Amino acid sequence: MEIENLRLEVLIDREKIAKRVKELAEEISKDFENEDPLMIGILNGAFIFMADLVREMKVPVEVEFIRVKSYCGTNTTGCVEVLLDVPECVKGKNVVIVEDIVDTGITMNYLLNRVKNKGAKSVKVCALLDKPSRRIVDIKPDYVGFEIPDYFVVGYGLDYNGKYRELPDICVVKN
Ligand code: IMP
Repeated sequence: MEIENLRLEVLIDREKIAKRVKELAEEISKDFENEDPLMIGILNGAFIFMADLVREMKVPVEVEFIRVKSYCGTNTTGCVEVLLDVPECVKGKNVVIVEDIVDTGITMNYLLNRVKNKGAKSVKVCALLDKPSRRIVDIKPDYVGFEIPDYFVVGYGLDYNGKYRELPDICVVKN
């Protein structure tokens, strides 16, 4: 597939994603059997993953969102800009942060501290994708959909400069 001179190659197709999302939801549901988690999606990248994940959950959940910006093109800016902050309702709750991808770990490290500082009872991290080879901050998500090599990927919510979020498969950007 070629869009605007960028060559896109499917890395994880929609069927594989759907199967794994269901498994993740089952695993999280088991761990939170009597705790009804507050699931916080990180916008914009996690909007599709979050919508699919919560619909597969087997326990009642509450849903909130945080919006941050840390990337420009394929480069991390290294600093996290909060556009929609952690909601006050996290106080005393068992929180699951739902993220599209953990790359350097800078964003997740920042968010984990911010959610804990707001008084959450417990905080777990669920990332659809994990790129451990890129890690700068030592962060290990509690639930991971797929571990991937150091590729820049788009689709299923992930973007390149605001584009390609709507693609149903996760694709590698080749130029
Ligand atoms: P980190 O702070 O470097 O871990 O980056 C986390 C954020 O960077 C993610 O939430 C994404 O928004 C973005 N990001 C990192 N890698 C990719 C990628 O391969 N494709 C699209 N966005 C990415």
